[in-house]
Amino acid sequence: MVERFKPIRFSRAGVRGLKASATLSINDRVRELWGAGRNVYQLAFGESRFPVHPKIAEALTANVQKRSYLHPLGTTELRTTIADFYRRKFDLDVSTEQVAVGPGSKSLIFASLLALGEELILPQPSWVSYAPQAHLLGKPVIYVPTRPETNYELEQDVLEHRIQESRQNWGNPEVFVVNSPKNPTGTVMRPQKVEALAEFAREHELMVLSDEIYALTAFGSTPHVSIARFYPEGSIVFGGLSKHLSLGGWRFGVAILPSERGGRALTHAIENIASNIWTCVTAPVQYAAQVAYAGDPDVDGYVDLCTRMHGIRTLFLYHALKRLKIPCAEPAGAFYIFPSFERWREPLAARGVHNDEDLALHLLDRYEIATLPGSAFHSAQDLTLRLSSSYIDAATDERAEALPAAFRRDPDPERFIRDHHPRLQQVAERFGEFIADLENGTQRARSGARTAVSAR
Ligand SMILES: Cc1ncc(COP(=O)(O)O)c(C=O)c1O
Repeated sequence: MVERFKPIRFSRAGVRGLKASATLSINDRVRELWGAGRNVYQLAFGESRFPVHPKIAEALTANVQKRSYLHPLGTTELRTTIADFYRRKFDLDVSTEQVAVGPGSKSLIFASLLALGEELILPQPSWVSYAPQAHLLGKPVIYVPTRPETNYELEQDVLEHRIQESRQNWGNPEVFVVNSPKNPTGTVMRPQKVEALAEFAREHELMVLSDEIYALTAFGSTPHVSIARFYPEGSIVFGGLSKHLSLGGWRFGVAILPSERGGRALTHAIENIASNIWTCVTAPVQYAAQVAYAGDPDVDGYVDLCTRMHGIRTLFLYHALKRLKIPCAEPAGAFYIFPSFERWREPLAARGVHNDEDLALHLLDRYEIATLPGSAFHSAQDLTLRLSSSYIDAATDERAEALPAAFRRDPDPERFIRDHHPRLQQVAERFGEFIADLENGTQRARSGARTAVSAR
């Protein structure tokens, strides 16, 4: 029986099994284990940890007395600066009126879902919060599976099939989420694919929510291209400062809305939602964001430096797993990889591991490696995990600050890993032990029985 707490009665969204974001929950668990002296390797939490750029930090402190409510979509000066930035960096024809800033892109995605259409078309796998947001709004989700063999790119015939299927069931698929560079796979969509999807969306009159929060973290040979270049009338582009400038806790996101008449109506709807829910982004943060988007060569150079460091750290993990023959798509952006352990299904089953949640728990419990199960991302493949390279060897502020300083002194990737990433190297070895144990049929004792080490 469901427990009732008078006079607290839950709404539909509250009682229908909505869970806290998986990424935030695992982070709490890892902190608990660290608190108990356990030597857990944090590959679960996707948070860029590099320090605040000094010019942005200065702008924040200089504006601490800015305490008035601001316009719900952001100050005009900031919106103009952001429009210029998107024109310069992403070749998008953006005007001031098309820019909205909000407390994180997460809130702006939610506001857009609230304002727009019925069913949400969502690739599998995709970031943890889109489906719960649709759930909170009572909107159905159509999942479209993607495959590692095709680099997790959406296949048009599968997409078409899922849309037709929904329409035959009186569904109304109208809103389509794309995300590149992609969380959880770290893959980047090829420009030709972006163009083809834009054409598809136009043909099917779909509204595209293009989550480009990792746009400036693309480190591979595939450049990031925004779908709004090809479908400006039907795309909202989301960005912000959380990833490439490591400012997740500042809660600053951007939406670039369409320009035409429909776009203006949508901007108005977002403004109404913002003004009735969050009012505006924290005023000093808006003034600091102005510096982040101004095109200062120091800040742009720092973004580039951080992206190169993320690339080296992520590719180290990818190559370590590849040497162990763990299937994994090659990452080209963000700080994630998405390996599959399907080929070890039998030895895993022999130790009671039957799905990816069991697998994530087994790795945490026996090998002290914190990861996220692929099912948190609605993966179409079982026994997948998402690993993030963003936290390890950067867990404390001192270590996070030491990394860019060391990389500036010596940008050689091998030495950068060898001399400054002890834990990344150790966790790669742990994966080696795990695979060797699976292949030799050996079992590892519970890690709680081992000597506790408090290093992070
Ligand atoms: C794909 C994706 N979109 C959006 C967000 C939310 O970012 P923000 O800090 O701008 O709300 C995240 C954060 O983890 C993410 O991974």
